[in-house]
Amino acid sequence: MFITFEGLDGSGKTTQARQLVSYLRDQGYEVLLTREPGGTPIGDQIREILHSLDNTAMTPNAELLLYNASRAQLVAEVLRPHLATGGVVICDRFYDSTLAYQGYGHQLDLQVLRTIISFATNGLRPDLTLYLDITPEAGLRRRKQASLFGDEWTRMDDMELAFHERVYTGYQALMQAEPDRWMRINADQSTEQVQQAIRQVLEKHLV
Ligand code: TMP
Repeated sequence: MFITFEGLDGSGKTTQARQLVSYLRDQGYEVLLTREPGGTPIGDQIREILHSLDNTAMTPNAELLLYNASRAQLVAEVLRPHLATGGVVICDRFYDSTLAYQGYGHQLDLQVLRTIISFATNGLRPDLTLYLDITPEAGLRRRKQASLFGDEWTRMDDMELAFHERVYTGYQALMQAEPDRWMRINADQSTEQVQQAIRQVLEKHLV
């Protein structure tokens, strides 16, 4: 089973994904946790380029291709082999982030994006996508707070609020288009409450 986490920056995906993985492992599931961009040695190098504050000259088209280069490597090297063994894979972001950030945020052509995504993933789709819902203002506030305590502040965090607002709108549209795949979780509550909500959703999907 292939589960992805999506949401704005600051929505708490990474913390929640880690907690979910330990919970599922305790239940006896064979679980692999990975993330995008990154998750492979090549992908991690691409992540550095994408997130470096030195790279403000990067065009949206170059950005799109780099995210998808990292994705192509992850799908072939990690996701497909693990899924083939029957294990559970949890991925912190996947192609919906490209649709939301490059498609809605940068307003690149969604049709072009879908073609590139399908090339990069070779058609791999998540079975379930957990969307951690937080407003752009609250997300930004949390990111600023976290960066004071040592979290990396990236080139994407540095985008203006209007960009993150378009990303937010994008996620709503993606959810509406595929309501069976997406599960919305209110992320504006305590870490424990969010984790509880995630586990409740998963109980219905895992056998
Ligand atoms: P994160 O790993 O801390 O969530 O950061 C990833 C950043 O990259 C986040 O700002 C969203 C962005 N991103 C895209 O813009 N497009 C993509 O396809 C992916 C996977 C991430």
